[in-house]
Amino acid sequence: MKEAGRVITELIDVSEDFPILKRQINNHRLVYLDSAATSQKPKSVIDCITKYYEMSNANVLRSVHTLAEEATEEFEGARKKVARFIHARYPQEIIFTRGCTESLNVVARAWGDKFLKAGDEIVLSPVEHHSNLIPWQQLARRVGAHLRFIELEKNGTITVDAAKAQINSKTKIVALSAVSNVLGTINPIADIAILAHEAGAIIVVDGAQSVPHQTTDVQKLGIDFLAFSGHKMLGPTGIGILWGKKELLNAMDPLIFGGEMIEYVDRENATWAELPEKFEGGTPNIEGAIGLGEAIDYLEKIGMPRIEKHSQALSEDAYRRLSNIPGVTVYGPSSPRTGLVSFNISGIHPHDVAQVLDSQGIAIRAGHHCAQPLMQWLDVIATARASFYLYNSSSDVDLLVNAIELTKRYFKL
Ligand code: ALA
Repeated sequence: MKEAGRVITELIDVSEDFPILKRQINNHRLVYLDSAATSQKPKSVIDCITKYYEMSNANVLRSVHTLAEEATEEFEGARKKVARFIHARYPQEIIFTRGCTESLNVVARAWGDKFLKAGDEIVLSPVEHHSNLIPWQQLARRVGAHLRFIELEKNGTITVDAAKAQINSKTKIVALSAVSNVLGTINPIADIAILAHEAGAIIVVDGAQSVPHQTTDVQKLGIDFLAFSGHKMLGPTGIGILWGKKELLNAMDPLIFGGEMIEYVDRENATWAELPEKFEGGTPNIEGAIGLGEAIDYLEKIGMPRIEKHSQALSEDAYRRLSNIPGVTVYGPSSPRTGLVSFNISGIHPHDVAQVLDSQGIAIRAGHHCAQPLMQWLDVIATARASFYLYNSSSDVDLLVNAIELTKRYFKL
């Protein structure tokens, strides 16, 4: 909805729930526009982690004393919340990892090494974050497979036809981000999943930038694996999720060997535990999982459909307003887009832009955003990027626009 040139979203103001947003940075109210790198945390998540350590800290899945049972119940409760949040069929399909990067590496190693052979093909796109590129490059080298890249439209979008042109009977894996961390594009995952399956391939989705911003239903998407991080969706750092279809996870061998991932061990041999423990060797990140569960409660209380509208409205409004500033280039399509806007100011290095903005209390990211092949495609060294989340508002976009004008004046442009 638009009113007097500003987007008004349906989201209630939640910024009060985020203690860090009360900070003053360089004598200005903090305007945090770097949630694509990591989100801020609501008090409920911070308190939940403290309460866990104050009241229930113990190792999980091992002992039978009260604290151990409480910790296990909270930890497994978090797994159930994640399963519900992404509409997984079974909680056992949720594997706790360190983050999205680790999740993607697990698929490349544990599925890729076992099922790919020389001459097979892996289909990717040029917008992928390095986390959804390098594991496949390395897999291709190990087994002699080849990478193919979907051609982007001029505005950076991926079409189903362009995906179709790269997928064929040699394709074994299609690995795509659901939302680009630079362009904010929303990729047609469900349609590409159908193409992948028709070709006999699996589809692996990097959900790092989509899961925090939109309803995720892995069954409706028809995908095989989904990777995402807790810290970009109000949870703590160091916790991530690998979701996979049970039959695929069952077919894979574990990667980390040791405690709690076994069924039976003798001097010479070992057999593996059932899912999900098979992939969770060693003491897991218990506080991370519990904190992520609390973050999911918070997101569900606000409602993912409302968050989705809010993220789209803010990023489309920011795109429109930044495109109107002379000398500013904004990347990707005007709409649909979600979560963020990447831009450059002609004649000013993005790091300098970020520094002037920081002097105004505005936190953005500048750099290649771990997507160097996309920078090469855009023919830039780097970009500035403002990314939004549920605690941002139209007035934050106003401040961003004003600060960009100030930056231009500062550099006498
Ligand atoms: N992947 C995160 C980003 O795009 C760190 O900033």
